[in-house]
Amino acid sequence: MKNVITSLDRPANPPWQPLQAEGWKLSDSPELLDRHQVWRWLSLEAAWSRGRSQEAVNTSLDHSLTVGVYDPAGRQRGVARCVTDRVAVGFIDDVYVDADHRGKGVGRWLVCGLLQHRLLRGISQFTLVTEDAHAHYAASGFTPLTKLQRWMQWRRDTGSAYTPDPWAPGSPPSSVS
Ligand SMILES: CC(C)(COP(=O)(O)OP(=O)(O)OC[C@H]1O[C@@H](n2cnc3c(N)ncnc32)[C@H](O)[C@@H]1OP(=O)(O)O)[C@@H](O)C(=O)NCCC(=O)NCCS
Repeated sequence: MKNVITSLDRPANPPWQPLQAEGWKLSDSPELLDRHQVWRWLSLEAAWSRGRSQEAVNTSLDHSLTVGVYDPAGRQRGVARCVTDRVAVGFIDDVYVDADHRGKGVGRWLVCGLLQHRLLRGISQFTLVTEDAHAHYAASGFTPLTKLQRWMQWRRDTGSAYTPDPWAPGSPPSSVS
């Protein structure tokens, strides 16, 4: 079936346009990232990553394609990252906008910046998990998974008799050295 193009797919005026006009910018530059601020958001405020250490946040940023939105003074106001091999897999995670700057299009700008990033142009499907922000991502064109039966998961917390977790206390060592 041919994709239906709606006004959502090609907004005439992206919601972040006024911010851009004021000198806000979206960037993937690691040098601009305020790692301490991102850690504060993720570890103190975001429900899914509460308590995450600064070291863990840094590791996640370093192993993802990360974008930030910066106000005209260069202060970071939002972050999003794509966990990716730049060929086949693109998983969007840790989308966070400073509470005082929500509702201005920053969130959509971050997501759009990843979906349209030149290094990710070969990826045919991006995925993400969200507790309650479905409408936010739908505004960028995301839909619920259509072929749910094809997806599988392996959970460390429930474990498996076939592949026990080697990192659990008392387990035999990992087979990978
Ligand atoms: C979700 C979040 C990233 C959105 O950022 P934002 O800059 O406020 O979003 P935008 O201004 O680009 O809004 C885009 C659309 O998403 C909607 N939206 C924003 N937050 C939403 C939410 N939590 N649930 C549903 N819709 C939401 C807005 O109403 C807007 O729709 P509209 O254009 O039809 O009015 C931001 O609210 C946030 O950081 N929340 C806390 C962390 C979080 O929940 N992150 C998402 C994890 S999956």
